[in-house]
Amino acid sequence: MGTICFLYLWLATLLVAHGFRGTGPTNSSSDNIPICMENLDMCLHIYAADRETCGENWCQCCNRVEPHRAPMYAYCMQHYGKLTYIPKLPGIEYLDLKNNFLTSHNMTERFFTNITHITCLVLAQNKITWLDQSMFRNMKNLKCLSISGNPLQSQTIVRSMLSVPGLQALSAAECGLPMLNKNLFQNISSDVKYFWFDENSINTSTYDMTVFCPLTELQNLALRVCNIKYITSECPLKIESLDLYNNLMDNFPKTCMHNNESMFPNLTLLSLEKNRISSINEACLPKLRTLDLTANLMIRLTENYFDQKNFPVLTELDLKSNAGATPLIPNNTFSNPSLIRLSLDDNRISFDIHRAVETNAFANSRIMQLSLTGNTFKNIDNGRFVQLFGHLPLRKLKLSKNKLDLLALKTLWIFKNLELLDLERTEIASLPDGAFDSFRNLVHLDLSDNKITSISELTFNHETRQRLKVLFLDNNPFICSCDLMWFKEWFVSQPKVFLRHTDTENKYTCENIPGVNLTDFSMAKQACLLSQSLNVMIVFTCTLVIVTLTIASLVFRFRWNIRLALYEAFRGRGDVRMMRLLTDHFDYDVFVSYAKEDLPWVYQRLMPELESRLGLRLCVHERDFIPGNNIVDNIVESVQSSKKILMVFSKDFVRSQWCQFELTFCMNHVMNYDDVLLIVCVDDVASRDMTAAMMAVLKTTTYIQWEELDDAVDSFWGRLRLALHEIIPRGGALP
Ligand SMILES: *[C@@H]1O[C@H](CO)[C@@H](O)[C@H](O)[C@H]1NC(C)=O
Ligand SMILES: *[C@@H]1O[C@H](CO)[C@@H](O)[C@H](O)[C@H]1NC(C)=O
Ligand SMILES: *[C@@H]1O[C@H](CO)[C@@H](O)[C@H](O)[C@H]1NC(C)=O
Ligand SMILES: *[C@@H]1O[C@H](CO)[C@@H](O)[C@H](O)[C@H]1NC(C)=O
Ligand SMILES: *[C@@H]1O[C@H](CO)[C@@H](O)[C@H](O)[C@H]1NC(C)=O
Ligand SMILES: *[C@@H]1O[C@H](CO)[C@@H](O)[C@H](O)[C@H]1NC(C)=O
Ligand SMILES: *[C@@H]1O[C@H](CO)[C@@H](O)[C@H](O)[C@H]1NC(C)=O
Ligand SMILES: *[C@@H]1O[C@H](CO)[C@@H](O)[C@H](O)[C@H]1NC(C)=O
Ligand SMILES: *[C@@H]1O[C@H](CO)[C@@H](O)[C@H](O)[C@H]1NC(C)=O
Repeated sequence: MGTICFLYLWLATLLVAHGFRGTGPTNSSSDNIPICMENLDMCLHIYAADRETCGENWCQCCNRVEPHRAPMYAYCMQHYGKLTYIPKLPGIEYLDLKNNFLTSHNMTERFFTNITHITCLVLAQNKITWLDQSMFRNMKNLKCLSISGNPLQSQTIVRSMLSVPGLQALSAAECGLPMLNKNLFQNISSDVKYFWFDENSINTSTYDMTVFCPLTELQNLALRVCNIKYITSECPLKIESLDLYNNLMDNFPKTCMHNNESMFPNLTLLSLEKNRISSINEACLPKLRTLDLTANLMIRLTENYFDQKNFPVLTELDLKSNAGATPLIPNNTFSNPSLIRLSLDDNRISFDIHRAVETNAFANSRIMQLSLTGNTFKNIDNGRFVQLFGHLPLRKLKLSKNKLDLLALKTLWIFKNLELLDLERTEIASLPDGAFDSFRNLVHLDLSDNKITSISELTFNHETRQRLKVLFLDNNPFICSCDLMWFKEWFVSQPKVFLRHTDTENKYTCENIPGVNLTDFSMAKQACLLSQSLNVMIVFTCTLVIVTLTIASLVFRFRWNIRLALYEAFRGRGDVRMMRLLTDHFDYDVFVSYAKEDLPWVYQRLMPELESRLGLRLCVHERDFIPGNNIVDNIVESVQSSKKILMVFSKDFVRSQWCQFELTFCMNHVMNYDDVLLIVCVDDVASRDMTAAMMAVLKTTTYIQWEELDDAVDSFWGRLRLALHEIIPRGGALP
């Protein structure tokens, strides 16, 4: 633990006390100076195991490019005065002597005799006040030199260093030098291509670049953190890259000279990151391809800022972090046909609001690489998204750090040629089937830090899986189950595709099983197969049971309706009934089934009418049931020895269990004999109170309703007579 802490401290100190500032374009030039300078810093990051002690224990050596080959880099630094000579360092090309309290006394030709072969020398952060190019006379390979962070006494030292024969890169940052004299480099012979002159605060707000004109080989100039507000020049400066990071410019720097001649006719890369620029008036940058306006105040863009009049060949534009207020992007802001890459990251632009981003903001543009990370898409609908971006021939699209849950992933299918799609931290919760199969060229897909719990096998078809070279899904709340097993297998078989190499945050964990990584999660294949078929079976069985139960309950509920319907359908023409009436012996003409509460009606109304007037003999259990017999026997016998059956429906009939029994029994009886029940209703029974059997009977049989009004009473008896006409004795039927 202590060792690791120490290592970190050591690295941190190194990084603070770095020797070189700024980075030139890495691969754009055929020579490898900036690469070697970067590697010098990079070497500090490598594992202790890949370093070795060298130079008589004064130094650490390594080989950053090929860690197991012979070391090329040596760090003999931070001895703060204890180092008294430079040891022999055979094979070393890059030597760092930072923080050794070296003074002008030590700077002699003899001092460097042990390292005449090296290419790159870092003398940064020492106490050198004076230097002369003659000290490096014997170092024929010296290509890059850093004298940053030394308290140089005179600016002529800079001229002297730039004149070291063969030197291609010089870093003289933080040397406390004021504004260089305009004539300082006149008649100079210098091979330097890269010149870092950062953090030398000038004492005037205008930087006169005329001084650099005699440096005919100069390609890359860095003037970072120099308090520059304006720049000016009396001669065209033929540099290719200019870095003005973190200065004080309020306006786009003046780049036009008299007669509209360009001040930087060969400039291809201009970084104005971290200034305070809020507008662009005019620009004369005929070759500018890359413009970096990150972290400025470009809040209100206008149509002509980036057009071809100002920037005829502009290819890449960075407008990251210009927020402050919601920026305004009017129609045609990016109508520059040469523009290929645009970044609008971290601007809080409300793409869903028409006032903030007009519908044609990206019109007349052929942007292929668009980065919109960290803005607002809160309420954007698919239609507006297509209106804004649909016409762009996108190859790379970054939408990370936006809430995109309203946007359908399928909307992105219009970008058929997409090669890279970044959807990190976009709150996506699910992936539709074939979500990425429409992108025939997609090789890089980032879905990390979302809310994805499961991934279906159908999300990525075979071709998509073969094609993807990078697929990040880390930091999603995976529910590890059988459904995710296929994904785990894919994950384990393609570690290069899924794991970030630079990042230790490779979190693929099971949200449902704390502390378990996706890679460690496993389930027996058979268990999954079994559970799969089990699931199918359970679903099938449940469906079957539900259907059966439903049918059964329906059948039960409508059992009488069904029986009566069947009965009606297959009923004969009354032959069985007639045979029964002719051949059987009957004690009664009509069996009357009624609730005992309706007895008064039966005695006072029904019996007088049917018995006295029509001469029918009724079976009324109050009167006719044989006492002492079982009541069921009584019912059965009475029903069987009656020609017809009359039911007296009423509210009380509903409540009487014996009545319901009689009804059921009688229904069976009449069905056997091809007959029908006679139904009279003596009061209004609500249908919701009726039993299923009563409902069924009322639906299939014409019933006769009793009412106390005179006309109605006559009609009631008339209808009842008609229903009984088969059994009314001749002469008994009165007109
Ligand atoms: C830079 O060059 C190295 C080796 O020449 C190469 O591996 C790398 O891909 C290049 N990088 C870029 C960005 O072109
Ligand atoms: C540099 O010179 C000082 C004397 O001015 C001496 O003490 C010191 O050891 C020298 N350092 C090296 C590395 O030679
Ligand atoms: C060169 O290195 C040797 C041994 O590494 C050392 O003894 C000698 O003093 C060094 N020469 C100089 C001029 O520093
Ligand atoms: C540069 O050279 C010209 C003549 O070739 C001379 O007049 C001028 O003084 C020189 N300037 C410097 C700074 O050496
Ligand atoms: C700025 O620096 C130059 C050169 O050292 C000096 O001549 C000039 O007086 C300084 N100006 C101010 C305002 O300090
Ligand atoms: C410079 O350019 C501007 C705008 O393009 C134009 O109006 C002006 O006439 C030009 N001046 C010269 C001297 O060409
Ligand atoms: C600058 O560009 C011009 C053409 O505009 C070209 O002739 C010249 O060689 C370039 N100079 C450098 C140093 O690239
Ligand atoms: C921007 O373009 C849209 C669509 O053509 C149009 O409706 C709108 O009026 C334009 N805005 C301005 C300010 O011209
Ligand atoms: C999960 O993986 C990470 C990184 O690979 C590792 O640091 C961690 O210890 C693992 N956790 C478990 C529980 O295996």
